[in-house]
Amino acid sequence: MPELKSAALPVLPLRNGVIFPHMVVTVSIETEEARLALAAAESTGGRLLLVPRLDGRYANVGTIATIQETRGDDRLQVVIAGEARARVGTGLPGDSSVLWVEADPVEDVDVDDPDLVTEFKAVVEAILEIRGAGGIADRLLDSDDPGLLADLSGYAPDLSLEQKIRVLETFDPIERLRLVTGLMTETLADIQLRHRVREDAAERIEESQKEFLLRQQMESIRRELGDEDSVVDEYRSKLADRSLPEAVSEAAERELDRLERMSEQSPEHSWVRTWLDTVLDVPWEETTEDDLDTNRAREVLDADHTGLDEVKDRVIEHLAVRKLKTERGIEDEADRRGGAILLLAGPPGVGKTSLGESVARALGREFTRIALGGVRDEAEIRGHRRTYVGARPGRMVRAMIDAGTMNPVILLDELDKVGADWRGDPSSALLEVLDPAQNHTFRDHYLEVDLDLSDVLFIATANQLESIPGPLLDRTEVITIDGYHEAEKLTIAREHLLPRQVHRAGLEPEELEISDDVLTEVVDRWTREAGVRGLERRLGTLSRKAATKIAAGETAPIVIETDDLRPMLGPARKDREELMGRTSVPGVATGLAVTGSGGDVLFVEAGTMDGEPGLTLTGQLGDVMQESAKIALSWVRSNAAELGIDSADLQKRFHIHFPAGAIPKDGPSAGVTVTTALVGLLTGRTMRSEVAMTGEISLQGLVLPIGGVKQKVLAAHRAGLTEVIVPSANADDLTDVPEAVRESMTFHTPTNLSEVLEVALA
Ligand SMILES: Nc1ncnc2c1ncn2[C@@H]1O[C@H](COP(=O)(O)OP(=O)(O)OP(=O)(O)O)[C@@H](O)[C@H]1O
Ligand SMILES: [Mg+2]
Repeated sequence: MPELKSAALPVLPLRNGVIFPHMVVTVSIETEEARLALAAAESTGGRLLLVPRLDGRYANVGTIATIQETRGDDRLQVVIAGEARARVGTGLPGDSSVLWVEADPVEDVDVDDPDLVTEFKAVVEAILEIRGAGGIADRLLDSDDPGLLADLSGYAPDLSLEQKIRVLETFDPIERLRLVTGLMTETLADIQLRHRVREDAAERIEESQKEFLLRQQMESIRRELGDEDSVVDEYRSKLADRSLPEAVSEAAERELDRLERMSEQSPEHSWVRTWLDTVLDVPWEETTEDDLDTNRAREVLDADHTGLDEVKDRVIEHLAVRKLKTERGIEDEADRRGGAILLLAGPPGVGKTSLGESVARALGREFTRIALGGVRDEAEIRGHRRTYVGARPGRMVRAMIDAGTMNPVILLDELDKVGADWRGDPSSALLEVLDPAQNHTFRDHYLEVDLDLSDVLFIATANQLESIPGPLLDRTEVITIDGYHEAEKLTIAREHLLPRQVHRAGLEPEELEISDDVLTEVVDRWTREAGVRGLERRLGTLSRKAATKIAAGETAPIVIETDDLRPMLGPARKDREELMGRTSVPGVATGLAVTGSGGDVLFVEAGTMDGEPGLTLTGQLGDVMQESAKIALSWVRSNAAELGIDSADLQKRFHIHFPAGAIPKDGPSAGVTVTTALVGLLTGRTMRSEVAMTGEISLQGLVLPIGGVKQKVLAAHRAGLTEVIVPSANADDLTDVPEAVRESMTFHTPTNLSEVLEVALA
């Protein structure tokens, strides 16, 4: 090698690697810059300076090298031999297209460090070993020169350009080798780790393959021996026994294939099995034949419930249409899909839920109930996705499984109690369930296959229509059950409640005797409700007391007299007496309202207080109710003269209170009642205690129509009131009131407030 002297050399920038002294490398010349540097080297006898460049910065040290060979025209390649390190001097003036610098060669000094060399070789050998290149270690490491060995790092694929530049820039051979040994040791640790992980993984794969093979063998041995079926086989044969919809059996097959390849220990194994069990539980191909005999159906309905003719008629109509179409061979999709959903609306205990059950019995269908009260989560209806821990199907699917057929009667109980919150709105899922256009492909998140709900007969129940979302209400045909009056309750008790409770108490029917008069007394004095649930409870108590007596040795029949009621049932309700007493002072008026529990009697109290003239309202009133109170006061003010009210008295502050302050109230129908209370207060007149009233008012003093007449009248009747004021526009609604009630009461139908006051005030 010729003696190297400082010289001006063209620079060939290196961007991807470092070429160290003693390395001979083939380099592709790809940039114009490199091509020009190469051309410039013709004037230096093929010698140039290779300088690594990282992030646009040149290294401080380069390698003086000679071009040994040039190949190719299009894709120029040169073979370059590194010769010596050189400090990169300052740039020299000249042709601006090529960088020329003063290159100052630095030769390695002669040094020795056997320990370091041994260490270095050991590390490199270990790396090559792992890489499966152990054989070349001897040849590659055939030197003890620290500087030379360190410069081998030019070939190391694991070192970064930056690390290699650091090696190039280290002139001292020992220091350089120490640096490289350090870097290679890190690399070794890294490779070892990765290697171990890979080996591990390979081992595991091998193991699971082995397990799979063993399983298969076990399977065939079992089959060979005619042994009990494996889990997968069991499912296969269960599937084969069923005629599931195609999409369902495809999905099940898919899961079975997955199951076959799974270890029984994996949690997924049991998830898949639970899913398969659920799918197999769904009665995909089961339906019951409808009993289309309308006479028999009517008998069943009548046997279960007294009255309720409207609902019964509706169910019979439904049946009759189906029967006719079947007989005449008319089958159109729309009818098969059930038509509108019946919604039974009414106060508690009027038999909505039990009627649903009865309809199923009349049709000869299975029956299940979905209690919607308090359902706030869409997933309750539609299920959780299978990825969710503890996922299970929603209520709809569970109801179908429960019913065991695809055409049951499903009672959506308490549709008005469905709530919506952050977990999603269950009513949107219900909408889909109730929509005949969509419910043949109902999707449960857990099941993940379409479920056909189109043959289900849905019946919904609710106490109040107001709290049912509009779109849901739209899909239903509302049948209201307003509650029963005394005579109806008596019949229901006789025909249904008492026999049932007697039976429950373990008595024979003839062992308990209770006359109609006594029953009426129970209805009147121990209950005050629109329905009959409280009545049934009282009759239960009486039956149990009778059973106790018989068990204690008394001889049957046990006869219950009016005088026995108090000791057996406790004190009677006092509210009738209380009711009458309430209106004994001026400023209190009796109104009627419809609440969630049916119609109710409600009192309005008016008083005066100190303070600015105006109105204070209490009792949790809604906006509409507050406005109607303001209208009442305005009307009283503007008609003070005719009413005989001293205008000085109107300069006070009025307080109007609606008792049962904890229950929110709204609506305009208390207008007449507020007016009556105010006028009574200001004129010192009391209201007649047997009268109740309802009606909206206008500023002109007109009495405007309201809703819920039947429920309100029944409530007044229950409370023992005998006269009811309803707006004249509601007169027709009175025909809805059962005749027995109508006959025992007097109705007034005024058109304006003066007529109301005339009837109401004593
Ligand atoms: N017309 C009737 N004939 C016979 N039994 C009746 C009648 N109405 C109600 N019942 C009986 O009264 C009880 C209460 O009825 P049910 O539970 O169906 O009331 P509901 O309307 O669903 O009330 P809620 O709104 O509180 O759910 C039941 O035992 C039911 O059989
Ligand atoms: Mg119910």
